[in-house]
Amino acid sequence: MKLVSTLSILGLTIALTSAGFVSVEDDGNFYENDKRYIVWGANYWEAMNLGAQKTGNRTRLINDLDKMKTMNINNLRIIAASEGPADSQKPVNVLMPEPGVYNEDMFKGLDYALYQMKKRGMKAVMVLNNFWQWSGGFSQYVSWVKNTTIPLPPGYPENDPRAQSSWDEFINYSAEFFTCKKCISMWKKHIKTVINRKNVYTGKRYRDDDTIFSWEFANEPRQNNDGSMPMTDEFIEDISGYIKSLDKNHMITLGSEAHPSFGKEVFIRENNHKNLDYATTHIWVQNWGEYDPKNGTEANLQHAIDYCINHLRDTAGWALKINKPIIFEEYGMARDGWDGQDEYDPATPATNRLKYYKAILNEVYKLTDKQIFQGQNFWAYSGEGRPASGDARDLYLGDPAHEHPGWYGIYDKDTDMINYLKKMGKKFLKLE
Ligand SMILES: *[C@@H]1O[C@H](CO)[C@@H](O)[C@H](O)[C@H]1NC(C)=O
Ligand SMILES: *[C@@H]1O[C@H](CO)[C@@H](O)[C@H](O)[C@H]1NC(C)=O
Ligand SMILES: *[C@@H]1O[C@H](CO)[C@@H](O)[C@H](O)[C@H]1NC(C)=O
Ligand SMILES: *[C@@H]1O[C@H](CO)[C@@H](O)[C@H](O)[C@H]1NC(C)=O
Repeated sequence: MKLVSTLSILGLTIALTSAGFVSVEDDGNFYENDKRYIVWGANYWEAMNLGAQKTGNRTRLINDLDKMKTMNINNLRIIAASEGPADSQKPVNVLMPEPGVYNEDMFKGLDYALYQMKKRGMKAVMVLNNFWQWSGGFSQYVSWVKNTTIPLPPGYPENDPRAQSSWDEFINYSAEFFTCKKCISMWKKHIKTVINRKNVYTGKRYRDDDTIFSWEFANEPRQNNDGSMPMTDEFIEDISGYIKSLDKNHMITLGSEAHPSFGKEVFIRENNHKNLDYATTHIWVQNWGEYDPKNGTEANLQHAIDYCINHLRDTAGWALKINKPIIFEEYGMARDGWDGQDEYDPATPATNRLKYYKAILNEVYKLTDKQIFQGQNFWAYSGEGRPASGDARDLYLGDPAHEHPGWYGIYDKDTDMINYLKKMGKKFLKLE
């Protein structure tokens, strides 16, 4: 018995010393232990929810992580926050149902996910908040502090009777967060709680754990549409300084889209802060009206590819201007929706998605080889999850609760895609 436990402690020690914290060095690249670190990653927000013992599914978590390991994936972007009462546009279980009150089963779920990632040599981008409603986020904090109802926009489920507002209205509401002092101090308490959290499986505090790649402010924090409610410099300095004061080991980033309609000036202003280590870009061709999944023509796909590549080149230029590395942190494409096919059905082929990934990742590879981009996290890995049937709630697909289940997630059974990602991952990692 003694011998076994000594050996397992030894095993863990070896695993701990072979990894390291990732930082940006003078040449503008990521390094781990004096070796360039390339991000070959996925979005897998559901890690914490799946890791929860009572309400999650650890079998699926383990199977998904093992499968991603075969795809050479070394980096997962996950949520380390979710707020408010459960509702139809949110996961069934959240980390902080009420201000300052934690669901310990969920926190252990996050511990467990990190512990299992560590064993597989993966690192986590820890997302600390959300501009959008699907995990609570900014709008939940504003609602708590101002005691007003969140103006929910249309999403999923369709015909949700609570969703009576426009996106513009919702965005205005969420953007109130940037100047809501009480919201910010409430959030800072959460930031401190997470950074100082001691993982019950490894005994390590998060701030000392090199399984964590970086702290990310939020999923897609952004100004409102006409720019009258910006993410202020004061806000960025305050939060990034606060995180740095609690944890000098990990990198910090905003998690922004680098949205083309806000453009270069906003990107530069928002990312050019001393405590921010790197920038990000998200590109959504269908959501931005540059791709139609019902249109099976070659021209439709080619337009989307050209659009995406142009924006990647633009953001590479913007990042160079401020000397920050950049990650292609979100992108995706629906399954084939033409000829009457249902693009949300897991049985529908995803041929355009594969062609799109091949074309754009070829460009990301070149930009990573040029040492501007540092890799990618595709959206999203749904693994062994499948959309629920009938009225059942979807439990933890890569597609978040407020979006149509099956829209963008990649399943374990998408063999052509999995094989491609495996091969391309190997090529990317040779740049290390
Ligand atoms: C948990 O995940 C496993 C593996 O993906 C699956 O077979 C099982 O049905 C899931 N359990 C529940 C309760 O969803
Ligand atoms: C919040 O608003 C509701 C009505 O919308 C009111 O009944 C309640 O007292 C308010 N709570 C606080 C703490 O102000
Ligand atoms: C959002 O805020 C802007 C700036 O105050 C305003 O012009 C716009 O009308 C608002 N949108 C909605 C739907 O209220
Ligand atoms: C399909 O997309 C192409 C390229 O954008 C466009 O020219 C064509 O009109 C579209 N067809 C339909 C039916 O929308």
